[in-house]
Amino acid sequence: MDAMTAIVTRRSEKILTEPTPSDEEFHYLLSGAATAPDHGRLRPWRWILVRGEARAALVRAPAPTGSRAVGTGSSSLPEPPLRALLVFAPFPGHRIPEWEQLAAGCSMTHALMMLLHARGYGSIWRTGRLCTSPGLPALLHLAEGERLLGSLDIGTSPEGPRQRRPLPDVSDRVSVFEAVTAVRAAHGPREAVDAE
Ligand SMILES: Cc1cc2nc3c(=O)[nH]c(=O)nc-3n(C[C@H](O)[C@H](O)[C@H](O)COP(=O)(O)O)c2cc1C
Repeated sequence: MDAMTAIVTRRSEKILTEPTPSDEEFHYLLSGAATAPDHGRLRPWRWILVRGEARAALVRAPAPTGSRAVGTGSSSLPEPPLRALLVFAPFPGHRIPEWEQLAAGCSMTHALMMLLHARGYGSIWRTGRLCTSPGLPALLHLAEGERLLGSLDIGTSPEGPRQRRPLPDVSDRVSVFEAVTAVRAAHGPREAVDAE
């Protein structure tokens, strides 16, 4: 599968069943994903794998006042066979700003989703109540400063391989910064005209 096909056939899969990657396979794929762009090579993240009966403990975790328990967000959906919890573990006060560390974590996660997809596994990144549940940091023994960025639910989609999607129109998302614009910004319109 070429890279473009892999990217445009990946979908966030809401229904996931067995099989899932073993812990060893997850480690292998993560070692690939960990080569994603990461300023300072800090790897400011870690994963907690939750399988089997342990998944129920997440569902039972105390929810924020007024909301339902964590779960999958919809009682009609089965629990995914593997929930990989993404923990952001930033280096406070580091010369690499925190937003860049967060960007590195997101790059790694997308790479992992693509590697899972290339092996025939489905995944979906879920946030929602999981990230706001007041009981989860203690339940997961998160260290001070660590933050749950969600669950990467992993398994196999019963729907099988997806069609290529039409490519979105991104023409309004790109502009070209021209030399004359740079001159105008630096010196005003007169010099910009001279430069032309
Ligand atoms: C940071 C992040 C959080 C997300 N949280 C949820 C979520 O809580 N529930 C959900 O159904 N999908 C969630 N998604 C998946 C998006 O809804 C999904 O990527 C989007 O609908 C596009 O679908 P696609 O991935 O199949 O292209 C999340 C995606 C990202 C990147």
